[in-house]
Amino acid sequence: MRRLKPEEKCWCGSGDMYRDCHAAFDKKIDMYRKKHVKVPGRDLIKTPQQVEMIKKSAQINVAVLDTVAEHIGPGMTTLEIDEIVYQETVKRGGVPAPLNYNGFPRSVCTSINEVVCHGIPSADRVLKDGDIVNVDCSTILDGYFSDSSRMFEIGDVDEDKKKLVRVTKECVEMGLEKVKPWGYLGDIADVISRHANENGFSVVKEIGGHGVGLEFHEEPFVSYVIRKGTGMLLAPGLMFTIEPMINMGGQGVVTDSNDNWTVYTRDRSPSAQWEIQVLVTEDGHEVISW
Ligand code: MF3
Ligand code: CO
Repeated sequence: MRRLKPEEKCWCGSGDMYRDCHAAFDKKIDMYRKKHVKVPGRDLIKTPQQVEMIKKSAQINVAVLDTVAEHIGPGMTTLEIDEIVYQETVKRGGVPAPLNYNGFPRSVCTSINEVVCHGIPSADRVLKDGDIVNVDCSTILDGYFSDSSRMFEIGDVDEDKKKLVRVTKECVEMGLEKVKPWGYLGDIADVISRHANENGFSVVKEIGGHGVGLEFHEEPFVSYVIRKGTGMLLAPGLMFTIEPMINMGGQGVVTDSNDNWTVYTRDRSPSAQWEIQVLVTEDGHEVISW
């Protein structure tokens, strides 16, 4: 990384002099690096201009999820959800990020009951009374990425599954409260795993959140099973997802060997997930997509 002179324009693209912009930031990052803290590279720090573009992408993503929320219910197939997502995204000028991503065949992930994540929409899967389903939407707008997911309860859902859905949402909310400048990713993981475990649930460890914005999946990997005060430093401008997968039974997961996408709980117990996209700011955080 090149050292800038005080009078040079800052690397962040603000147009301001380095001295008055990210000079103090770089100094602070350097200090953490010397203490062997995992610090984000400049490429992970979003500029104000980039944040504006990513927010436009997220506006579409949220609108698409809102539309899904209006229509989802018993008797609908997951392929119909996929059609809504595709139509609503394209209508608003975006492109669904999952479509053709590493060969993924559809525009959205729909993960029902024991499916942990990456469920593929299908004409054969009809939503039925008592199902819980995660709908995971991601949008590309002019090259900028947004990503968030919600749980939906279909008809009459039993109390155990309702609790799983509620506690998982609380995990995300509690994790979000830990997003503040100069904290650690592990602070988020700590409250999430604690809250899940206290309620008798387990946290998936193989799959987690990720940096997002300029790519679908950027660094860092966001684990929910690491310790407080560990993991990447939360520097202002870092953007990532909080998307814990919480299982009612054991934490083990398996990937379907037929489609190489669908992830199930090993013990086939139900699993829930909520996902938000968040930006670390100078004084806390901002939710970008939900
Ligand atoms: N939206 C998922 C995430 O939160 C990624 C899905 S990849 C796909 O990271 F190809 F399955 F869409
Ligand atoms: Co994600």
